[in-house]
Amino acid sequence: MQNKVLILDFGSQYTQLIARRVRELKVYSEIHPYNYSLDDIKKFNPKAIIFSGGPSSVYEENSPKADKEIINMGVPILGICYGLQLISSFCGMSVIPAKEREFGLAKLEKIEDTVLLQGIENLSTVWMSHGDKISQFPDDFIVSAKTDNTEFAVIESEKRKIYGVQFHPEVVHTKEGKKFLSNFIFNIAGCEADWSMENFIESSIKDIREKTGDEKVILGLSGGVDSTVLAVLLNKAIGDRLYPVFVDTGLLRKNEFNDLMDMFKNKLGIPVRGVDASEIFLEKLKGIDDPEKKRKIIGHTFIEVFDNVKKKLGDVKFLAQGTLYPDVIESVSLKGPAATIKSHHNVGGLPKEMNLTLLEPFRELFKDEVREVGRELELDDIFVKRHPFPGPGLAVRILGDITKEKIKKLQEADSILIEELHNFNIYDEIWQAFVVLLPVKTVGVMGDVRTYENAVAIRLVESVDGMTADWYEAPYDFLKKVSNRIVNEVKGINRVVYDLSSKPPGTIEWE
Ligand code: XMP
Repeated sequence: MQNKVLILDFGSQYTQLIARRVRELKVYSEIHPYNYSLDDIKKFNPKAIIFSGGPSSVYEENSPKADKEIINMGVPILGICYGLQLISSFCGMSVIPAKEREFGLAKLEKIEDTVLLQGIENLSTVWMSHGDKISQFPDDFIVSAKTDNTEFAVIESEKRKIYGVQFHPEVVHTKEGKKFLSNFIFNIAGCEADWSMENFIESSIKDIREKTGDEKVILGLSGGVDSTVLAVLLNKAIGDRLYPVFVDTGLLRKNEFNDLMDMFKNKLGIPVRGVDASEIFLEKLKGIDDPEKKRKIIGHTFIEVFDNVKKKLGDVKFLAQGTLYPDVIESVSLKGPAATIKSHHNVGGLPKEMNLTLLEPFRELFKDEVREVGRELELDDIFVKRHPFPGPGLAVRILGDITKEKIKKLQEADSILIEELHNFNIYDEIWQAFVVLLPVKTVGVMGDVRTYENAVAIRLVESVDGMTADWYEAPYDFLKKVSNRIVNEVKGINRVVYDLSSKPPGTIEWE
């Protein structure tokens, strides 16, 4: 790839967004920590560099600093917020605390019509979040835009190819954010838009073939988008050297196992090994009601089952895994690994003793890019647009201990919810939708008879990446229909409640 943008992360919560926006412009971008060495940068060979924002102040002793020599490399640099201030201090300007913090929307007023501001309105709405400001700067810079509170909102040095914006062009609240970035990337740095999923598929097929040689590759399917798309891509690359395995934990959605097996066999022509391990999982989970214990048991049991399949296949060298870019960035960014709130069990999370080399073709992709790969590979929309589903499945949606009867009850209620989401045409507006079976019995009345049965909760959330989420403002007639159907059609449930919690402080799943 000729056109690459390097994003240095100074700890902003929006760093991932910068990478996404650049990729939306069809230019490849990668995020690296702020102290990425000069040698590594030269090897990466970026056409442009973006410094992200960050919570620190450049005048603090321990604030994150990049290698100052970056500004002399001749590669165009754009600094955003903290990035702008760092560039300024590198170039001999002073950065001081502002009297008033500026937070939220502001009107950006153009002073000069520069390449960076080409096509931007004279008064453009931008989103600010900062407490510091620049107080003076050298002769080879100009100030090309300001806001009421920030005299130096955009600074530029055409000669030195260094640019800085105090606002955040990557957030949607900055109305013309994409235009600012596109001016910088294309008109200043001279990038060409050559990043497409079509190119990605072509180059990763070549790469997978080279890496795996004649060896066998095993892949665990979860029913989710990532592993499904990966199976199709690998099948295209290595054909029958791929061994996809789908374990039925008994904790999947209604008909999920059969539907997916059927799709692979009849629509995609990919032979999947289906393993019914539902009895084993149920047995091991018997009487367990602690959420973390459930997750751990499921994780271990999955590994046992998967290892058995692997042994039967003989000499398998590679394990393919649908790791995505956000997982990779998590481990390199300033934030470090987040505290464990839940032990996540993913189909790919297998131990070293299995002696498999990892194959992770989606390491560079965001979820929406994986969906696009799926579309390019002609997967049905119904699979490409699917909501995420957690590894431990319905086990974390049945509060308390797990029994066959409870799973059945939940599967029935859940399938009504999903069916109605499609009927009301709102499935695609939502990140995730599911029913939770509560360990609570309530009194009701049905046909003049007193009932004493389970309550369920409906959880519908909107989210971009699952890290934060908001409850979905579902139409009342939809809620009425779902609630009515669940209570009438699912034996053993007599009450439906709606979950109104956002994340944080709630999590998406209840356990
Ligand atoms: P929480 O409940 O932590 O979930 O807000 C965030 C997103 O992650 C999914 N999730 C999981 N996915 N293995 C997975 O592959 C897991 O163990 C797991 N737990 C939660 C959850 O469904 C939501 O999309």
